[in-house]
Amino acid sequence: MVYLLSIISHMDNSVEKLIKKIPKAELHLHIEGTLESEMMLSLAKRNNFELKYRDAEEAKRAYNFSNLQEFLDIYYEGAGVLLQEEDFYDLMIAYLSRAKDENIIHTEIFFDPQTHTSRGVKFSTVITGIRNGLVEGERRWGISSKLIMSYLRHLDEKDAFKTLEEALKYKGWITAVGLDSSEVGHPPSKFRGVFERSAREGFLTVAHAGEEGPLEYVKEAIEVLGIARIDHGNASHRDREFLKKLSEMKMPLTLCPLSNLKLGVVKNLREHPLKIFLDAGVMATVNSDDPAYFGGYLNDNYIAVAESLSLNESHIKKLAVNSIEASFLSKAEKNALLERIG
Ligand code: HPA
Ligand code: ZN
Repeated sequence: MVYLLSIISHMDNSVEKLIKKIPKAELHLHIEGTLESEMMLSLAKRNNFELKYRDAEEAKRAYNFSNLQEFLDIYYEGAGVLLQEEDFYDLMIAYLSRAKDENIIHTEIFFDPQTHTSRGVKFSTVITGIRNGLVEGERRWGISSKLIMSYLRHLDEKDAFKTLEEALKYKGWITAVGLDSSEVGHPPSKFRGVFERSAREGFLTVAHAGEEGPLEYVKEAIEVLGIARIDHGNASHRDREFLKKLSEMKMPLTLCPLSNLKLGVVKNLREHPLKIFLDAGVMATVNSDDPAYFGGYLNDNYIAVAESLSLNESHIKKLAVNSIEASFLSKAEKNALLERIG
């Protein structure tokens, strides 16, 4: 039996053990994407919100998508139950509690204010709940964090400007701005003005690019938006010259293997470009994106990709180190966390 299991499992047990215990950061996580179906149902009940699913199993069964847009339709629908400050707080605590169990010591979290303000929920309600959750998570479990406000790219730039105006009151709580939602047809250049203004206001910038969209979008995000980090960036892996440039620039990529698999960005994980990026010296990181929808949190992502790409212990260590190096912490803070990796 043991012999059989060891044939079935291609991965060295020590790699899995290392993945679970190594301290690491998560840099690409949408807080709305951590809404488990059970919590969705309980918040709907608490808020007297009429959800189209009768129970958590029915909701889970509806998580059936083969591309980004099909996923987003379900994700925005689910986010409808988030109405009160305490809903955002509870959602954050639930994620951080899992993060602690996975040895995540630092996390940089996306939130999509427009997903909520468009439904009549106040910006202040969203950000106060999230912020209080982050402060409590640090107090309870010592997990440090940064917050990234993401503009929805399927909406127009004017709407993003309005969101930026609202965010200015909360500058001390928000480190960076990002760009997410439906990629194809909404190139980074559509948001040139609002990214320039965001940078002038002191925010760092990141953007989803090259998830479903082409390599051109990755280049635009760097050249036109001046981003400090690429979210996904998968489309870069076939261009050798560009890989060299990413490596020289030390431009981090926040890759999300299980998300890529569920959204059809890769057909199977053996085709995932993570190892190509690592071999080319690109600062690649592993992240979970929307774990409640994609079937796995951070360690599941590490394990799945380690198994499919035969990663060894030094790859895992490199990924953990990259996650700290690619974060928006100060040099001194990074050094303190890197020491914990050893
Ligand atoms: N891609 C784009 N937008 C998103 C995603 C994603 O994976 N998750 C939540 N918003
Ligand atoms: Zn994402």
